[in-house]
Amino acid sequence: MNILETKDLSVAYNGVPALRKVNIKADKGEVVSVLGPNGAGKTTLLKSISGLVKCSPESKIKFLGNEIQNILPHKITRMGVVQVPEGRQVFGDLSVQENLEVAGVSVGMKKARENIKKVYALFSELESRKNQAAGTLSGGEQQMLAIGRAIVADPVILLIDEPSMGLAPVIVKRIFSTLKKIVKESGLTMLIVEQNAKLSLPMSDRVYIVSQGKVMIEGTVDELKNDRRIRDMYFGGN
Ligand SMILES: Nc1ncnc2c1ncn2[C@@H]1O[C@H](COP(=O)(O)OP(=O)(O)OP(=O)(O)O)[C@@H](O)[C@H]1O
Ligand SMILES: [Mg+2]
Repeated sequence: MNILETKDLSVAYNGVPALRKVNIKADKGEVVSVLGPNGAGKTTLLKSISGLVKCSPESKIKFLGNEIQNILPHKITRMGVVQVPEGRQVFGDLSVQENLEVAGVSVGMKKARENIKKVYALFSELESRKNQAAGTLSGGEQQMLAIGRAIVADPVILLIDEPSMGLAPVIVKRIFSTLKKIVKESGLTMLIVEQNAKLSLPMSDRVYIVSQGKVMIEGTVDELKNDRRIRDMYFGGN
C-alpha cells in the first residue's frame, strides 16, 4: 500500500529553487533513504512533507491517498506524518518525561502513556534520566529523545533528518540498531535522510539520490549496490 507520494514537488526560497519537481514514494513498511550532498534539498524535502515549508502550487503530496500539501503542520503530524528534525530540537528546559508528554498531547493521555513506556523500553538511557532537563543530556541522548518524541506521537510514517550528525560512532550504531528494531516491531514506514550511506543503506529498501534539488538516481538498494556511481560516491569504491 502506498503511504506517501510526492508529485512534481517544488520549493523555492525567495525565488531560488531548492526542490525541482521531486517525485518520491514510500510503501507501507518500507525504509526509504534520501542521500545527497550538503544543500541538495534533503531537509527541504522533509519540511515540505511536514508542511513546515510551502511548496509551489502545482506540487502534490499524498499521504494515504489524501492530498496534504495545503494542510497545517500540526494537523499533518496528527494524521501520522511525524518528523524528527535536523539538530534534534528538544525543549531544553523541560525534563525528558515532560518532553515526551508534550509530544503525546496530540494522541491523548492514555495512548501517550503507553507510547512513553514503549520509548523507555527502547531507550533505557532515557528512563534513568526522566527527570533530567533535556538541555543537559548528551548529544546522543538528545537524539534518542528526539526519536522518542516522534514515537510518542504515533507515526504512520517517520521522517528522520540526519540522526547521526555530530555523534560518536558507538552512539550512532546504537541509534541505528534501535531504528531498525522500531521498523521491525511496529511495521511503520520510514523516510530517512542520512549522509552516511554506510549506516542508512543496510536498513533501507529503496534510495533516492538528490542533488541540486532534483532526484538524480533512484532504485532499490540491491540495484544500486551494483551501480558504479553509487559505489564510488558512497562506498569509496569498495
Ligand atoms: N529558510 C531558508 N531560506 C533560504 N534558503 C534556504 C532556507 N532553507 C534552505 N535554504 C536553501 O535551500 C537549499 C537546500 O537546503 P536544505 O537545507 O534542504 O539542504 P540539505 O540537503 O538538507 O543540506 P545539508 O546536508 O547541509 O543539511 C540550500 O541551498 C539552502 O541554502
Ligand atoms: Mg539538511
